[in-house]
Amino acid sequence: MASGELSREKALECVGCRHACHIMLYADTKDKLFKKIPIRHVVLMQMRFDGLLGFPGGLVDPSVETLEEGLSRELWEELGFSLSVSLEDHVTSCHTPSSLPQLVTHFYARKMEEREIREVERAAATTATDHGHEVMGMVRVPLYTLKGGGGLSYFLSHSFIGNSRGQLEDALVRFGLVTPEELRAALTHAGQKRR
Ligand code: GTP
Ligand code: MN
Ligand code: MN
Ligand code: MN
Ligand code: MN
Ligand code: MN
Repeated sequence: MASGELSREKALECVGCRHACHIMLYADTKDKLFKKIPIRHVVLMQMRFDGLLGFPGGLVDPSVETLEEGLSRELWEELGFSLSVSLEDHVTSCHTPSSLPQLVTHFYARKMEEREIREVERAAATTATDHGHEVMGMVRVPLYTLKGGGGLSYFLSHSFIGNSRGQLEDALVRFGLVTPEELRAALTHAGQKRR
């Protein structure tokens, strides 16, 4: 387990902890950029109201609803899309250091069909109540790295909320969306060119 990581069950035992649940929705695609570069996977994040990138989801009070019910509710608010999140979608739970009261971030992932991802994007931009308020728009994560350096490396050099950048990097490798070598190369490039 990575530092700060704990089980979902242990996290729920924490007295006085706040809980936040977010999810990575993704799909395979055969689509190509410029009819040439395989896009491989569609991975959704969002531009938040505060200008930071993050995953859809939000705060859940486990005394009122389960973590998964709360995440489903947040997805309805932020995406205008009804998605019933289940225990099987849970990936990791993590203590967030230096936040008071202590915040635990629960991370979920769900593989969808490309067609369903398009539905989510359409709903998020049209019927979602939070569109233009908490959420400025959904964005797709470029997974390739172009010769000039564009792609995943530049995407990772943006600013992210909390540990969402770490959640993204972990999930990309965990679910085989990029190889560890590709991620390392993108991070090296991001470090050289943008920071
Ligand atoms: P309100 O409805 O305004 O309360 O917002 P929300 O419930 O949608 O909460 P939000 O999504 O902002 O998440 C709550 C807290 O979790 C944030 O203040 C961040 O500290 C953290 N957070 C937000 N997005 C992410 C994310 O994608 N990953 C992680 N790890 N933490 C996040
Ligand atoms: Mn919200
Ligand atoms: Mn949110
Ligand atoms: Mn909320
Ligand atoms: Mn809200
Ligand atoms: Mn793949």
